Amino acid sequence: MSRAKIAAGNWKMNKTFEDALQLSREIANGQRAEEVITILGVPSIYLKMIVDQVLHVPGLEVAAQNCHAKPSGAYTGEISAPMLNSIGIKYVIIGHSERREYFAESNEELAEKVNIAFSNDLVPIFCCGESLAIRKSGNHLDYVANQLKESLYHLTGEQISNLIIAYEPIWAIGTGETASPEQAQEMHEYLRNAIAKQYNSKIANTIPILYGGSVNPANAEVIFSQKDVDGGLVGGASLKSPDFLKIINSFS
Ligand code: PGA
Repeated sequence: MSRAKIAAGNWKMNKTFEDALQLSREIANGQRAEEVITILGVPSIYLKMIVDQVLHVPGLEVAAQNCHAKPSGAYTGEISAPMLNSIGIKYVIIGHSERREYFAESNEELAEKVNIAFSNDLVPIFCCGESLAIRKSGNHLDYVANQLKESLYHLTGEQISNLIIAYEPIWAIGTGETASPEQAQEMHEYLRNAIAKQYNSKIANTIPILYGGSVNPANAEVIFSQKDVDGGLVGGASLKSPDFLKIINSFS
């Protein structure tokens, strides 16, 4: 069964306006493998400009990095899913480990964010992953499977089939240390089997599962070649167009 191949960049809180426009222009104009969906995870303030800039570029999409769990209201400084939808955004990163850690986002709140994303025609890129302490304890597989259970298993089969999962071990994010291809494959396969058990294998085989955590041009190919790895969510290496273009072209 062939799943979508996805290279998603997460710019986090980086780039000023001109630099952001230039980066997205370079990715838009760069040589990108036709079968790969490239997604730029852009700071909110630039979303509208960049979504307009890449509107007619085949295979290039834009994601917000977060949205609020409520549709509107007195939440100063926050961005809602209806707002994202109203400017033509199609994807939203939900539950990045930095949001979980610095903004105390719980599995329960993330379930609400996933819901509001779906009710506003946004595809959630749902992040999960364990800390180093959990990895060392040996409970990482069940810990991450539980993140899916608590935030996703209320969804219908149709909804969960339209979602992207990003497995990002926290100890590998921005550290230069990557999970080995075998460690990534082990987790991805475990999660896919867990979804198959909860739903069915047809659904589990539809869902793209991306790996994130220090993906770079040198390691992308071997990581992406794993059976259950359908691409990457890339932070640091997505900030330079030559590096990110190499990663986009690392699927075999
Ligand atoms: P990194 O970040 O590629 O810089 O490790 C990945 C992420 O946080 O999505």
